Amino acid sequence: MRLLVCGGAGFIGSNFVRVRVRDHGDDVVVLDKLTYAGRRENLEDVEHEFVHGAIEDPRAVTEAIRGADAVVNFAAETHVDRSIAEPDAFVRTHALGTYVLLESARAARVRLLQVSTDEVYGSIAEGSFTERSPLQPSSPYSATKAGADLLVSSYCETFGLETLICRGSNNYGPYQYPEKLIPLMILNALHGDPLPVYGDGLNVRNWLYVEDFARGIGHVLEHGAPGEVYNVGGPDESTNIEVVRRIIELTGADESLIEYVTDRPGHDRRYSLGSEKVRALGWEPEVRFAEGIERTVDWYRERRDWWEPIRSGEYRAFYERQYGRALS
Ligand code: NAD
Ligand code: TYD
Repeated sequence: MRLLVCGGAGFIGSNFVRVRVRDHGDDVVVLDKLTYAGRRENLEDVEHEFVHGAIEDPRAVTEAIRGADAVVNFAAETHVDRSIAEPDAFVRTHALGTYVLLESARAARVRLLQVSTDEVYGSIAEGSFTERSPLQPSSPYSATKAGADLLVSSYCETFGLETLICRGSNNYGPYQYPEKLIPLMILNALHGDPLPVYGDGLNVRNWLYVEDFARGIGHVLEHGAPGEVYNVGGPDESTNIEVVRRIIELTGADESLIEYVTDRPGHDRRYSLGSEKVRALGWEPEVRFAEGIERTVDWYRERRDWWEPIRSGEYRAFYERQYGRALS
């Protein structure tokens, strides 16, 4: 299969491209704007074609989509805290970008899979969301992702475009930018920097190892029914403080590094996805959290070459703005 993978230079996109090229022999064209989160290094060990461009640019998309059998869209702004500080790029990429991509897929008559998130459903105190649960997003990030999902579905209903939506739970694993909980805590623990836990640390997330999500997306692309949404949830849930304590054990850092800080505004308490529908298609997660977190800590320990340029660049200024203190 020849795939156009938008946002393929980011965390999940690059893991997806690696899985598809390695395990399925796909030809892949990556279209990526290379924002702070997109890095050519993430794909240096994978054969692919690369187009530097934005999904909201019709000319770049028209060029990149030529000859593709399907489009998979990972391109997004993805950090909730940045969406609170500066929402504009979220609106542009998720609303305008998804629209431009849908128009191009419609003109080229190719299937489009939109990668989405459990956050569109909002918070759930008990039980799990199904694909029929109402969308009740809380942050500019999740609200603009929900808007994109609705636009995608409308192109199936209205124009007969073959669309699919995969809503994943919190991913973790290699190549994740260290603004997100797990890589941030690993790198801070390795450096002896404070570990900033929001609120009471009892918010709950449903953790999914990135290669499991990558396989799930590929599975839905091949076997999913057009117009359908598929939740792809992880096998384990955990409070944030449990995650941080496990990272402390694995890195040998000191417990005293934990620092409770001001909570995120509108902070969702708990996410939980029911994944029966995608399991019925034949997918299931293979990596439990206990194993995935060990693999992830090992990867960050070994890949100083990957994170050193990040931790010494734009990230330092972001960190200072966000946390009100400098990194070591
Ligand atoms: P990421 O921030 O690591 O990567 C995003 C990529 O998109 C980067 O390569 C960036 O350069 C690119 N990009 C951003 N705006 C673009 C634009 N306008 N045009 C072209 N490229 C653009 O994100 P990620 O964590 O890999 O997430 C990928 C997708 O998966 C997103 O749609 C996100 O909503 C979804 N998702 C993420 C998680 C998670 O836990 N990280 C969970 C579920 C779903
Ligand atoms: P994050 O990785 O930003 O993912 P999301 O908010 O999209 O689920 O955060 C995961 C959880 O960790 C969330 O409850 C917020 C919390 N968190 C902290 O406590 N401290 C931090 O420094 C970060 C980045 C997140």
